[in-house]
Amino acid sequence: MTKPALTLYLAAPRGFCAGVDRAIKIVELALEKWGAPVYVRHEIVHNKFVVDGLRAKGAVFVEELEECPQDRPVIFSAHGVPKSVPAAAEARQMVYVDATCPLVSKVHIEAQRHAEQGLQMIMIGHKGHPETVGTMGQLPEGEVILVETPEDVAKVQVRDPQQLAYVTQTTLSVDDTKGIVAALEARFPAIVGPHKEDICYATTNRQEAVKAVAPKSDAMLVVGAPNSSNSRRLVEVGAKAGCKYAQLVQRADNIDWRALEGISSIAITAGASAPELLVNEVIDAFRARYDVTVEVVETAVERVEFKVPRVLRHPANKSA
Ligand code: F3S
Repeated sequence: MTKPALTLYLAAPRGFCAGVDRAIKIVELALEKWGAPVYVRHEIVHNKFVVDGLRAKGAVFVEELEECPQDRPVIFSAHGVPKSVPAAAEARQMVYVDATCPLVSKVHIEAQRHAEQGLQMIMIGHKGHPETVGTMGQLPEGEVILVETPEDVAKVQVRDPQQLAYVTQTTLSVDDTKGIVAALEARFPAIVGPHKEDICYATTNRQEAVKAVAPKSDAMLVVGAPNSSNSRRLVEVGAKAGCKYAQLVQRADNIDWRALEGISSIAITAGASAPELLVNEVIDAFRARYDVTVEVVETAVERVEFKVPRVLRHPANKSA
């Protein structure tokens, strides 16, 4: 039986960003340097496949520092942590490595700088997401006001409308955030924003690539985890850009083939924490059912790389 023809638009850039790449390397180098087990507070990046792979090598994932023994190294995830976490690790005299993405750390520094200048902070982000918890936790509890929507902006109570600044989560929808920033600036014209926006290059580039492929595709699949903020935003961006069926899949066996019946084109992308191996697995699943022509749609070239912390640059040296 001949297979139906399918054009597969492969969005580029997609998948791993420099911060995720660095965080995974940190865990691998820590295992090399200190041997197993190495503890990791929270999923190092939001991807089950990555986490399971590191677990098999000897990483132990925990949610709280108290779950780690004092005499083993602990790594903080790429999403960042409240200030209280490294402080607690120091108090317990633990060896710790901070895998917070440098672009998240940049937002942490920004928040502190604004606070030092006497400005009250507003954070645009998703409640409960570890990055939001980490950024808000750079300042004493209650100091940062969280807003998630333009409607929230209408309700916020501030100390002094003349003394305000905002920061954002790095993985938000670029377009939705513009609406929230516009609402903030309309209500508080004196509010100070970031020098360069906080939404990171990887988030922006992946959303732009989706906007290029989604309108010409009958359906779109985003390879990523349900708890990955940037992956979920890609689904929303795809749907808003005109793709009638946009779905998140963790792996090929999540694909709902019935929902895809009758399509002649599909767009594929991957969130910043999804390995390319899983993208290839999804493409192979389409190849098994369709006569696939792959067309790469590249909207940006990324050359960003982040160094690992100094303590891990020479893993042969086993001392802490
Ligand atoms: Fe960093 Fe952006 Fe990736 S903040 S971890 S480069 S999604």
